[in-house]
Amino acid sequence: MKIAIGADHGGFELKEGLKAFITALGHTVSDVGCYSPDSVHYPEIGKKVVQAVLGKGVDRGILICGTGIGMSMMANRYKGIRAALCHDGYTARMSREHNDANVLCMGARVLGVGVAEDMVRIWLNTEFAGGRHACRIAMLEDL
Ligand code: RB5
Repeated sequence: MKIAIGADHGGFELKEGLKAFITALGHTVSDVGCYSPDSVHYPEIGKKVVQAVLGKGVDRGILICGTGIGMSMMANRYKGIRAALCHDGYTARMSREHNDANVLCMGARVLGVGVAEDMVRIWLNTEFAGGRHACRIAMLEDL
């Protein structure tokens, strides 16, 4: 898959490590920034990932900030984006199986690297279960 990844300064270091991890899993990574630990505004970075997902230029997006909260708040303002703020492998898996999340949000200041890598691997490998969940996703798009 093609994955767009973005982070603010709070998530910069984790993003850098995850790029290599995701590439090693066989995916293509498009890094929209930030490109240094200097302070930036998370909505500006998040918008680039959201636009890539909505524009179909990539299959899914990953957004990282200090807590993951700001990134998830901004991403979910866009129709067609289902951004899930996840904390562990279980929430990452459920966000795909039940919610068909197309953006994974993470908080670099609340996760260890090992947990973050587990989450990403699970999230990329898990398909939407469909069935009873499909009409609920349709309802989200109709709000
Ligand atoms: C930056 O200090 C921090 O506010 C940001 O990374 C994020 O946690 C916001 O939700």
